[in-house]
Amino acid sequence: MIPSRYIHGTDPDEQARLALLNDLLNAACLRELRVSRGERVLDVGSGLGQLARGMARAAAKPVVGIERSAEQSARARDLARSAGEEELLDVRSGDALAFPLREAEWGTFDLANARFLLEHVPAPEKVVAQMVRAIRPGGRVALCDDDHSLLRLHPEPPGFAPVWQAFMRSYDRNGNDPYVGRRLAALLAGAGARPSRLTWIFVGGCAGEPAFNGFAENLAGNLRGAREAIAATGAVALDGVDAALEAIAAFARLPDASIGYAFPWAEGVRPGR
Ligand SMILES: C[S@@+](CC[C@H](N)C(=O)[O-])C[C@H]1O[C@@H](n2cnc3c(N)ncnc32)[C@H](O)[C@@H]1O
Repeated sequence: MIPSRYIHGTDPDEQARLALLNDLLNAACLRELRVSRGERVLDVGSGLGQLARGMARAAAKPVVGIERSAEQSARARDLARSAGEEELLDVRSGDALAFPLREAEWGTFDLANARFLLEHVPAPEKVVAQMVRAIRPGGRVALCDDDHSLLRLHPEPPGFAPVWQAFMRSYDRNGNDPYVGRRLAALLAGAGARPSRLTWIFVGGCAGEPAFNGFAENLAGNLRGAREAIAATGAVALDGVDAALEAIAAFARLPDASIGYAFPWAEGVRPGR
C-alpha cells in the first residue's frame, strides 16, 4: 500500500495551527479521556505532543507517542523542553500502520489514544486493530476524529461551500475518509474492542466568545494548508480557494457570525480482563 501524504503538511504555520487547536480542545478531550494516575498511555500520531503531555500529567507517567514525521517529533520535543516536561514524552519514530513497539510492550498499555489521525490513513481499521493489540485486556482505546460534513457556518461566507466540498474530495483522492469520525464505534467493534462510550466534542460558538477567533483561524488554516490539494481536485481553482479564505476572514469580523462543528469521540474496551 502506498503511504498516504499528510494533507496538512508540517511547515511552521501548520504547526502553529495545530498548536492553537490543541490549546482550544485539550481540556475537553482530557475530560473525556479520564486518565488515572499510574496509567500507561500510548498516543498514536502524537503530532506536537501537547495532548500526550496532558495525558502524561494526569497519569504522572511518560506517554509513549508514535509519530511518522521527523519535523513534528522535533517540534514536540522542543515544546516539551520549553515547558520543562521532556521526561513526560517518549516519542518513537514510526508508522501508525506498523507500530514501533518492542515485543514485550504489546498488550501492556492501559489506554491507547488516537486523535485526528484516522482521517489521514488509508486503512484506519489496521491502526485500530494495533491499538487494541497494544492494550491489556480491560484496557481502553480512545478515538477522536473528523466528520467534515458536520461543519455549519452562518452567515455562510460567499464561495466557501464549493471549497469545503473540494477539501473533502481531496481526502478521497488521497485514499482517506473525510467522514471517518462517524465510523469510530464501528471501527472499535471491528477491531475486537467493545464500544463503551460515544460523544461529540463541540467546537465553535459565536462572535464575541473568547475562543471564536481561534476556531475561525483554525478553519482558515486548514484550508490554507491544503490549498494545493484542494485545487488538485479540479473542482475549484487556487484563486477560488484564496477568495474563500478572504471571505472567511471577513466572516470572522461579523458581529453575528457563528461556527458549529463537533469532533466525534469514542471509547472501546478490550474484552477479557
Ligand atoms: C492532525 S495531526 C494530530 C496530532 C495529535 N494527535 C493531536 O491531536 O494534536 C496528525 C498527526 O499524525 C501524523 N501522521 C499522519 N499519518 C501518520 C502515520 N501513518 N503514522 C504516524 N503518524 C502519522 C502526522 O504527521 C501528524 O503529526
